Amino acid sequence: MRIFAVLTLMCIFLAPTTAGESCRPMEYDVSEICCPMCDKGSVVKRNCTQDSSTSCTPCERGTYMDMASGLSRCYSCRTCKAEQGLVAERECTREQDSACTVLDGFYCQEPNQESGCTLAQKHTQCNASQMTKLPGTRGTDTVCEDCKTGYYSTPGLKCTEGKSSCGNGKVLQKGSQTKETVCNTAPRRHHYDVILSVMLLLLHG
Ligand SMILES: *[C@@H]1O[C@H](CO)[C@@H](O)[C@H](O)[C@H]1NC(C)=O
Ligand SMILES: *[C@@H]1O[C@H](CO)[C@@H](O)[C@H](O)[C@H]1NC(C)=O
Repeated sequence: MRIFAVLTLMCIFLAPTTAGESCRPMEYDVSEICCPMCDKGSVVKRNCTQDSSTSCTPCERGTYMDMASGLSRCYSCRTCKAEQGLVAERECTREQDSACTVLDGFYCQEPNQESGCTLAQKHTQCNASQMTKLPGTRGTDTVCEDCKTGYYSTPGLKCTEGKSSCGNGKVLQKGSQTKETVCNTAPRRHHYDVILSVMLLLLHG
């Protein structure tokens, strides 16, 4: 029993030493040697050896490294593409990726603390039969609302009250939530009445 306890204790104390490949902070492991990391803005050109320290090289234009590391390649800077509704807010430096913001007419669907906006969407255009309740912003989409009954909208901007009838005129096309009632502005009934009266007169005469 006592032997078992001693063995368990030994295992606990030995564990960190047997898994002892890990290096100190700001160092990285190269086949069992710990090399000093390169600062951000640069990457490893040559790993350290028993006799020489790590050799670093600064990131080239269009690339960056935003942390100290033992990596040998810088990351590519992202480009803010206008066709995706994005424009550069902050240019890329050796130590930090670029940040994008949205173009006019777009809102950000995936905001990101570090890189500004990663996904932009075009503002929704409200349908006909709807009105724009709240216009879109850089952070939010347009809010649309259906027109009340008896109101219509063509471009989906605001609802206008529609005519309910054509008075003395004839309804050519009944109004709806997307279009105004179309009336016949030159009523023909009078014309037909005259013809009818003349014919009746002729028949009786
Ligand atoms: C440094 O060593 C690592 C691990 O062996 C290797 O993957 C990397 O390519 C080396 N870096 C350079 C710049 O030679
Ligand atoms: C506009 O109408 C289309 C087709 O009926 C529909 O898919 C879409 O969701 C509508 N847009 C809005 C903002 O309600």
